[in-house]
Order: sequence, then structure tokens, then C-alpha cells
Amino acid sequence: MASHDLAREAAALDAIQLTEPQACLFELIILGALAPLSGFDGDHPLLTARAYSPGARVALRDGFNVRLGVLTVAACEAAGAEFALRGPVEVIERPRWRGFDSLRLTPAELRQRTGPCVAWVPSPWPTLEEAWRAAAHSRESGLPVVLFVPSHLPPHVSLAARVRASLAAAAEIGAQVVIVPVAVAALLPAVLAAYGAGQVIESGGDSQLEAVAAIRHTEHPPRREQGFCLWFTGLPSAGKSTVAAEVATMLEERGRRFTFLDGDVVRTHLSKGLGFSRDDRDTNILRIGWVASEIVRHGGVALCAAVSPYEATRERVRAMMGDGQFLLIYVATPAEVCETRDVKGFYAQARAGAITGFTGVDDPYEAPATPSLRLETGETTPRDNARAVMEFLVQEGFL
Ligand code: ADX
Repeated sequence: MASHDLAREAAALDAIQLTEPQACLFELIILGALAPLSGFDGDHPLLTARAYSPGARVALRDGFNVRLGVLTVAACEAAGAEFALRGPVEVIERPRWRGFDSLRLTPAELRQRTGPCVAWVPSPWPTLEEAWRAAAHSRESGLPVVLFVPSHLPPHVSLAARVRASLAAAAEIGAQVVIVPVAVAALLPAVLAAYGAGQVIESGGDSQLEAVAAIRHTEHPPRREQGFCLWFTGLPSAGKSTVAAEVATMLEERGRRFTFLDGDVVRTHLSKGLGFSRDDRDTNILRIGWVASEIVRHGGVALCAAVSPYEATRERVRAMMGDGQFLLIYVATPAEVCETRDVKGFYAQARAGAITGFTGVDDPYEAPATPSLRLETGETTPRDNARAVMEFLVQEGFL
């Protein structure tokens, strides 16, 4: 079917919005980089929230809702809380990634341009030793070196920085750079083979290439120039907001700016309308986490105070930020003390049965297993606790 007919059909179909890793998989499939795979199949089904009947045609869209293709469901089976769809795909267009378009060659393009090659895959920063090894392999085999940059493999260092570093490193030995849409490390060998790489040089080494060092430095400034997120968790009335507000004042006194995201406040705007079911709490926490991660990414300070009762959800927030920038502060006030304080009167209402599903009364709170800092609030004042947080930030090099 011509792709504009397919696009028209797709507009009317039920659609699945692909995550970036799923869009990568889609792209590898349509580029033939996982041949003989020509659809979601084998070890690589498409995981979705709902089931589809075999024979159904489903549109595939990217995160911006651009129509990428159509999947014809051949099989659908339950996979945990999700469903695994298998079936062939038809293409409307290749995913649109931003930047470095000329480096996103297809396997066919690279094979035509370069032929068989030696693959150099930095992880994630190219080193001097890798450059030497690549050059040596190339001399021995007579094959050119291609430096492959997997676009979506962790650690999640900005792709632009990795590509710039790769271009600088590749220039040292006259290698070509190609960006491949790989989000799962296990796929890399098959993908490299499809691109014609017979030999893959071993990655690693400690010596920095000079040109790469400068790029790495801008990407990883010293801690005092980095942003961070102080995430206060604990039972209702534990004193999270109070300590966070004291920390805010102390940061201000040091001339450091911040954004304060308090659960109660966020629930009046960004999370207005959400309740306290597990799903709604998770949505609330992930929203706060998303905003905080944007602030941190730009070098800012995010103070977040929310009950955030679930460990798994807190860990999802941690994963949204750079390594070490999520600092979990457990305000460990015992349940009895929180209930006695009952600043907002909710414990009394929960005991009277006027509200149900109240954290600490009839809803769970999972204490963090490994908080960055644990605060007791019986004897210590909020100000003492805030000082402890500030000392911790100094110790860790953030201030
Ligand atoms: S969270 O669970 O999603 O992290 P969040 O910190 O935003 O909660 O909001 C908790 C605040 O909402 C509490 O401090 C309390 O004032 C109020 N609240 C109202 N109902 C509940 C409830 N069922 N459980 C917990 N807090 C509640």
C-alpha cells in the first residue's frame, strides 16, 4: 500500500504511542537491522497496556503522535500486567529523531558507502586505548573503522554530547561515525552485523582523548555546579514540608535558588483532581518527579515533599535523573507521633472513618530501604534537621 494510503488508514485506526525504546525497535525492524525479523516477533514483541484480537490493525505513533506505521496483530498474549503483541509492520515513515541526521545511515547505506568494517562502540565515552585498538584492527584487516553510537543505551548521557565526543575521537583515526537506534544492549551484536561489522573492538581504557575531555567536562560539571533533587518522604504530618521549608530558607541565605514542590500544593494545580488510590498517587509522584528532573537537568535545585509511600515509584523518580542527583531524605517520624501531631486533622478523620485509604492508618507506607539521609523528628527541631541536610549537601559536594 502506498504510504499516503497507509497514513490515511492509520488515522482512523486505534493507535499505540511508542515509547522511545519501542520506536528504536520499530526503526531497527524497518531498516532490516534485525533481519530476518520483519515485525514485532520472537524475543521482541510490542508490549502494550491493552489486548488486541488477532487480525486487528493498529496504528503506531511516536511520542509526538506522528504516524510511523501499522501493525497487523498476529498474536496477543498476556505478559504480566501488559500484553505482548506480535505481527508484521508496514511503514509510513522512519522515526524522526532530532539532530545529526546525516549520521543516521541505514545498514544498506553504510554497506554501500564503506563495505565491511571494524566496529568501535564506546561505552559511553571513547577512550585513547579504544582508538589505538581500532586503528590496529583496521591496519591488520585492511578494513575501515566505523564508530557506532547507540542512541538510547544507558547511562543516559546526552546523545548530542556523546555524538560530539565520538566525532572528535573518530577524527583522530579517520573513522566514520554512525548513530544506530539501539535501546537494548542485547540487540547490539545483531545490529552491528547487519551494518557489516565483522569485528568489534573491545571497549574500555582509562586514558581520555583531549578533545573528548572538554566535552565530558561540560556534560559533567563539578558537583557544586550540578543540580540536585532533595526528595522528602514520610508519613502524613511527619514534618516533611516543615523541614523542606527550613532547608529552602538556608539555601536562600546562601544565594542558591530552588523550586519547592510540595504534595499538598501540587495537588491544587498540576495534580488537581487526583485522589489517593495507588494509581493516582503514582501519577502524582511521577508528575512531581518529571518536573524535578527537568529542573535538575538545567542545574537547578528541586525540593520535593510528598508522602510518596511506594518504594518502586520513588525509584522510578530516581531513574529520571542523573546518577547521584536524587537525594532521598526519609523523615522517619514514628506513626504514633504523626498521629498525635495530626497537623491537618486527617488522622482523626481517618480514625472516625470519614476518610478511607489514609496513609499510616489504612493505607501502606513503605519506608525507604536505603535513604540518602534519615531524619528523626522527636527530639530534634526542624531547624536542626535542616542543618543536617545542609551539612550532608556540603559533604556530598553539592554546596
Ligand atoms: S502522595 O501519596 O501522592 O505522595 P501527597 O504528599 O501528594 O501524597 O499528599 C498527601 C497529603 O494529602 C497529606 O499530607 C494529607 O494532607 C492529604 N491527604 C488527604 N487524604 C489523604 C490520604 N488518603 N492519604 C494520604 N494523605 C492524604
